Amino acid sequence: MSNDGVNNGRRRFLVAATSVVGAAGVVGVAVPFVGSWFPSARAKAAGAPVKVNISKIEPGQQIVAEWRGQPIFISRRTPEALALLDEMDSVVADPQSNASNQPAYVDGKTRSIKPEVLVVLGICTHLGCSPLFKPEVGAVDMGADWKGGYFCPCHGSYYDMSGRVFKGMPAPLNLPVPPHSYESDDVIIIGIDQEETA
Ligand code: FES
Repeated sequence: MSNDGVNNGRRRFLVAATSVVGAAGVVGVAVPFVGSWFPSARAKAAGAPVKVNISKIEPGQQIVAEWRGQPIFISRRTPEALALLDEMDSVVADPQSNASNQPAYVDGKTRSIKPEVLVVLGICTHLGCSPLFKPEVGAVDMGADWKGGYFCPCHGSYYDMSGRVFKGMPAPLNLPVPPHSYESDDVIIIGIDQEETA
């Protein structure tokens, strides 16, 4: 009887001691993961939304903003450039941008919230070069048929003024449209969806 009491007491102690070590072990393992669950302030800043004042962009011009370390092309299209988009429907691979990366609140053809203001990621969907902005119709270096758009110098992909890629190009998709919204007529926020500010 007395031996059983000793053994039971030792067993209880061993069980209790094991539980404590086990709990300590879990805490020790959990700490590194906790660190990875919460991004650092620097990581948050790198992914933070960016405000861009577009009031100085003249019709036919483009500025390049930066968001998440990537170039964002913001252009103001002329009424003539918008009218030419219809003609480009038969030239581009995905006229309504069904296969391309863009938010639901932008139109398939103009690919924008306001028709005149295009906001696209300035990275070619082939291998990631930055396309050149070529807005002039019939630009000397682009040929008499050129209706304005983008040209990627790395492997020769063409995009129209909506960032829609031409058929038969090395690039497979239209230039992506990042999440964005209007804080006012003059200020765009890159990184926040239009619905979220409504
Ligand atoms: S990276 Fe643009 S065509 Fe290859």
